[in-house]
Amino acid sequence: MSDKKAILEIDGIDQPIELPIYSGTLGPDVVDVGGLTSQGLFTYDPGFVSTASCESQITFIDGGKGILLHRGYPIGQLAEKSDYLETCYLLLYGELPTKEQKEEFVGTVHKHTMVNEQIRTFFNGFRRDAHPMAIMCGVVGALSAFYHDSLEISEEQHRQVAAFRLIAKMPTLAAMSYKFSTGQPFMYPDNSLSYSENFLHMMFGNPCESSNISPVLARAMDRIFLLHADHEQNASTSTVRLAGSSGANPFACIAAGIAALWGPSHGGANEAVLEMLEEIGDVSHIDDFVARAKDKDDPFRLMGFGHRVYKNFDPRAKVMKEAADEVLAELGIENDPLLEIAKRLEEIALHDEYFIDKKLYPNVDFYSGIILKAIGIPTSMFTVIFAVGRTVGWIAHWNEMISGSYRIGRPRQLYTGYPQRDFVPVDKR
Ligand code: ACO
Repeated sequence: MSDKKAILEIDGIDQPIELPIYSGTLGPDVVDVGGLTSQGLFTYDPGFVSTASCESQITFIDGGKGILLHRGYPIGQLAEKSDYLETCYLLLYGELPTKEQKEEFVGTVHKHTMVNEQIRTFFNGFRRDAHPMAIMCGVVGALSAFYHDSLEISEEQHRQVAAFRLIAKMPTLAAMSYKFSTGQPFMYPDNSLSYSENFLHMMFGNPCESSNISPVLARAMDRIFLLHADHEQNASTSTVRLAGSSGANPFACIAAGIAALWGPSHGGANEAVLEMLEEIGDVSHIDDFVARAKDKDDPFRLMGFGHRVYKNFDPRAKVMKEAADEVLAELGIENDPLLEIAKRLEEIALHDEYFIDKKLYPNVDFYSGIILKAIGIPTSMFTVIFAVGRTVGWIAHWNEMISGSYRIGRPRQLYTGYPQRDFVPVDKR
């Protein structure tokens, strides 16, 4: 906090209004506009472009410099030296765990991987061709109907157990939503495997054969989860906070986050990238698609390019690109036509004035789709995998809010509808 103030002069109001300014550890100062309502004024910022909705100590992004820090640690260092569950611990508790703390944390997550057997029956209510994200919205919300002993949000112990349950059960539910669509039997988790090995085992294993999981693919999967673990107040995290601010239970809040993530402007972009590459179909068509992306009258956008915050490069994309190279080399994939299109597209867009001027760079989703496709994950599961990784971020933010002081989130509006008018009976309209 600082002693700085902003002075706001408004036509028709005699006294200038003093607004306190706060400084964080890093990042721009914020002007506290909370007092404006007593002057009969609201601020107006559609899309929250200039609005800090909360105070947080979890993640910091400097979009201009391409910096992403979790609890102060750069994402590149975490991706190289840490693993997903260790990063979960860091996001949840604020510090890297000691060896013993890590073992205990991982052990507890492993103990929560199974889901209530009745949830299998719940799946049968869905159509076989349901999109796995549609299933996830429903099933994760329904966890609140199965785990009554972790719904009391004012109890720290309940919040802890809910966090473990969500982190541990998301891969199980994700794999079940895939198995359901293929008609194959659900696989029980194998708690002797690591988090990402277990996910691959439940996705691709079957009860008749033992799973053979490549350590390189498991490492790539782990890195995908890690790189998606948190991203401060993005659309889905803000949705989780907003839902949580009303006192809703954690499972319902995370289901709300999954719904917000699904859209193609957010987590749905990784699926949209692959669909776009398939639609382009051949390198010779790239120029047409780039021209469409630049055409103001065409709603088409290059999926996987651009970011609200990163205007230099997306540091996650850098790591993801390296992981993509590693996975493709391991799998011996050199001449994949979609990959060829992706590489050419990236090259063209990075040198095109339109993209340079608007600071549009490949984001994390541009490369994650390529890795996931190479691992053999179906496109419809891409956003589900994002949701699995992001669950810890959602929970960490929800918990930070609930364990501090908070009020229900209730934005206001600039009303441009009719002024008051009298009701007209139906026979007079
Ligand atoms: N292709 C072509 N033009 C684009 C693209 C794109 N991918 N992204 C932005 N632009 C243009 C816009 O048309 C706009 O042009 P204008 O100034 O002439 O009107 C300008 O760049 C700014 O774009 P906005 O939409 O105002 O930027 P905003 O911050 O609101 O949107 C977003 C960011 C949603 C990510 C956008 O860049 C986009 O739609 N990208 C494609 C979808 C995508 O990859 N989403 C994943 C985001 S990362 C994540 O969620 C993990």
